Amino acid sequence: QELKLSLEQIEKGGYEHFMLKEIFEQPKSIHDTMRGRLLVDEGVIKMAGIWDHVERFKNANRIIIIACGTSWHAGLIGEYLIEEYARIPVEVEYASEFRYRNPIITDKDVVIAISQSGETADTMAALKLAKEKGAFIYGICNVVDSSIARITDAGSYTHAGPEIGVASTKAFTAQLTILTLIAFKLGKHNGNLGNADFMSLIAELDAIPKKIEEVLNTTHELVQNIAKDFVNATNFLYLGRGYNYPAALEGALKLKEISYIHAEGYPAAEMKHGPIALIDENMPIVIIAPKKGHYDKIVSNVQEIKARKGKVIAVVNKGDQQVSAMADYVIEIPETSECFSPIVASVPLQLLAYYIAVYRGANVDQPRNLAKSVTVE
Ligand code: AGP
Repeated sequence: QELKLSLEQIEKGGYEHFMLKEIFEQPKSIHDTMRGRLLVDEGVIKMAGIWDHVERFKNANRIIIIACGTSWHAGLIGEYLIEEYARIPVEVEYASEFRYRNPIITDKDVVIAISQSGETADTMAALKLAKEKGAFIYGICNVVDSSIARITDAGSYTHAGPEIGVASTKAFTAQLTILTLIAFKLGKHNGNLGNADFMSLIAELDAIPKKIEEVLNTTHELVQNIAKDFVNATNFLYLGRGYNYPAALEGALKLKEISYIHAEGYPAAEMKHGPIALIDENMPIVIIAPKKGHYDKIVSNVQEIKARKGKVIAVVNKGDQQVSAMADYVIEIPETSECFSPIVASVPLQLLAYYIAVYRGANVDQPRNLAKSVTVE
């Protein structure tokens, strides 16, 4: 028993929980995801899985992304990325819905499955169905040689390293990195992403691990302090727009799964279609408001929240003024292109969920009722 305990402590590398260790590993894990693929000096993205089948992607009627949970959130961001940069139509589906609704799939479709474990039963079943109907199936998995990795026609491993905490953190940002690489590679190939834009985007992508490191250093203590004020919260709203709408969903999922506080993510503009009725002085609202990405619209959303006395925790860019002046708590992150902002903005939200859960005495690495791989329906 003692030996087991100390082995676990070694594995945690000095961190109290695997989840915190994995949050802090992200500068390295994102770097590992890009290693050998993103060759900035040569202006090249190398991905054999894509390149060997590039005509299938180029001529696809559409790409359908299937996944569950956090991986599904990554898929939503993948939709924004691939549609913006490669101009290929993308649909994103919950694997559990897709597999039972008799979807229309043809041999002109490309189906991408995203799964950290590569063992999720619903994702596996949805993929088998797509394969039977002749679609080209592509896997984005973290676990090497997992079942999903084995049944797909091609794929890209995320190379984030083992993720032990049930709440996915570094696997999520690695999935976003792969999806970004795929979108840029396809966009460059089919001519929708011009060379100058491609070059500046890949240079910026290459700098993301450094930005994550900066976020970890500058927000870690601050977020711990913010978390202390919300230990007794019973509800949370998470809002974001564009690329940060799925980041809001992911922030809310992180909080609910490990702290057991009810949390909902919404596209900020949807607030007025219902959730605004929930806002009063007891409602904490996390709002992702970087400069690039519908900032003015977010400013009015924050005004609407403050008029109803909601408690605003704003994730903004360094030096932000307008949203910061209204917010109750401000978390600053470095500026980046809109398409990379969910990677950067997710990090303080992971920390926030982590510390609220820790202060509530929850078992963050193994939350109740949840398994790391959901291998049953
Ligand atoms: C993430 O924090 C969750 N534990 C869960 O939603 C997870 O992402 C989902 O079960 C999908 O798992 P997969 O990526 O291994 O397929």
